[in-house]
Amino acid sequence: MKLTDLSTPAFLENPYPLYETLRAQGPFVRVAPTALMTGRYSVVDALLQSRQMGKTYMDSVRVRYGEEAPNMPLFQGVSRMFLMLNPPMHTRLRGLMMKAFNARQIETMRELATTTAHELIDGFAPRKEADLVAEFAFPLPLLIICRILDLPIDEARTLGAAVGKLGKVFDPAPMNAEALAETSAAHDDLVGYFTKVIETRRASPGSDLISVLLRVEEDGETLTDDEIVSNVILLFIAGHETTSNMIGNALVALHRNPEQLDLLKRDSRLIPNAVLECLRYDGSVQMTMRTAIEDIEVDGEVVPRGTMVFLMLGAANRDPDQFAEPDRLDIERKQGRPQTFGAGIHHCLGNRLALLEMEAAIGVLLERLPHLRLTHLDRLDWNKRGNLRGVTALTAAW
Ligand code: HEM
Repeated sequence: MKLTDLSTPAFLENPYPLYETLRAQGPFVRVAPTALMTGRYSVVDALLQSRQMGKTYMDSVRVRYGEEAPNMPLFQGVSRMFLMLNPPMHTRLRGLMMKAFNARQIETMRELATTTAHELIDGFAPRKEADLVAEFAFPLPLLIICRILDLPIDEARTLGAAVGKLGKVFDPAPMNAEALAETSAAHDDLVGYFTKVIETRRASPGSDLISVLLRVEEDGETLTDDEIVSNVILLFIAGHETTSNMIGNALVALHRNPEQLDLLKRDSRLIPNAVLECLRYDGSVQMTMRTAIEDIEVDGEVVPRGTMVFLMLGAANRDPDQFAEPDRLDIERKQGRPQTFGAGIHHCLGNRLALLEMEAAIGVLLERLPHLRLTHLDRLDWNKRGNLRGVTALTAAW
């Protein structure tokens, strides 16, 4: 196995055969002199839960972009995002974010997600055809995150485009000079935008998440404006395209398994379980990385300190030792927790919001357009985003 195997057209189209080879080769496969990869569920889970594994973002920036790169505002900004931090900084920032992002507050978003799904469908239903990525899966989570932050809806598209460009900073493969410049420019724009938003909210606070974060700061916690800006941008990146792509992947999986789709149409109570199964079957986030902070032994093998490990979440989700008949989409499946939201201290902060959005998206689409069919199911264009699996378009008719 080589890291370049993760960017071949065959892999992007269907990564699962390669994952099978990866799991069969042992708990770990060496992919670089100091880097390992794993696709086994038990190993992925153990490493994500382990305090001996951590994030070493700036080290990976140095390796990929050179010794001076950590001084760039782009990487400085990303390194303030709590996704990239270890305890105690991670604990502090995540704890503050949780105050504004807890289960009760997120549940109040369900009605908003349902109404937004209806409004989007109202826009294209009379045409009898649409691209469900551009007109449904992309805008739905974007509009919801804008509402959570109380940002003007007419700015959503511009923000979504900037965040999409910035999101490339999380791709495992290094960007070329042109992509790096584009990503840096997107970061500058977003920092400028959110710095102004913070000024406005400080002058006139509301009940939105940014105002809540500012209030947290005023309560004597040390949350700087730079930290607020970087972490609000993180919410945008982490919460938008992950969910958009996941809605697309779920629709593809269901339509490629028409008997499962029919089952779902007959019994909408299966929607929450179907969403979980789609997350397992073909997740939008396929991998994450950790570095051994000290030597750690897993499955009889020692991972030496300083080793970077690629944790293939998508491979873990198809591990037959964890899921019976893992290659079968089974919306009534009962056992197992997919790794699509990760595990341990970095377990997805927005997982409840993502589930709720997906339930609304699929539920409303099935209710409003029960005879919808995907017209290019055999000719899908899978994106080239490395760690963000999804289709670029999903044409449908009804
Ligand atoms: C973390 C996946 C939706 C916010 C993560 C992680 C994964 C993930 C795998 C852990 C990464 C790691 O361990 O390195 C997903 C998927 C989503 C989704 C597949 C959609 C289907 C969302 C949404 C939000 C969100 C809607 C918020 C609006 C976050 C944040 C983190 C995170 C803030 C960092 C947590 C931490 O480091 O403590 N997500 N996510 N995600 N996610 Fe999500």
